[in-house]
Amino acid sequence: MEAPIFTADFLQEIDKITSRYEKKQAALLPVLHLVQEKEGLISPESEKNIAEYLAIPVVHVHEVVSFYHLFHQTKKGKCHFSVCQTTACALLGAEGIIEHLKERLGIQAGETTPDGKFSLSVVECLGACEIAPMMQCNKEYTGFLNKKKIDEIIEKNS
Ligand code: FES
Repeated sequence: MEAPIFTADFLQEIDKITSRYEKKQAALLPVLHLVQEKEGLISPESEKNIAEYLAIPVVHVHEVVSFYHLFHQTKKGKCHFSVCQTTACALLGAEGIIEHLKERLGIQAGETTPDGKFSLSVVECLGACEIAPMMQCNKEYTGFLNKKKIDEIIEKNS
């Protein structure tokens, strides 16, 4: 274990999670969430450490990390926006929302502002079509978006 977060204390936290499962391999998703919570991303080094600890192939860990948009392979901003671009949101103006965010933050989708405060992702349906157009700000859903609402969210998190 080489990554700084994989300390004895941290491994105890992982053990608490794996003890809830019959096979420790089944704890992959909660372990990934824990690592991301601590590091802000899942680095290739962490993928390797997790694979070793759970006794699964590192390629399996990487496949899971790259499949779910909830896991980040690069450092995200303190406030991470995931904007839905799927049908309901698209029909109600997602493209304008995304453009406004890009303009206000001065970044493209997939990037983080130089001060590390904000990052932006464009994602598929987040299962909240009834509040379209919507986005996720870290774990919080915000819907019925318009430019004014976005400006307020940016101000609040600046
Ligand atoms: S289409 Fe945007 S949340 Fe479902």
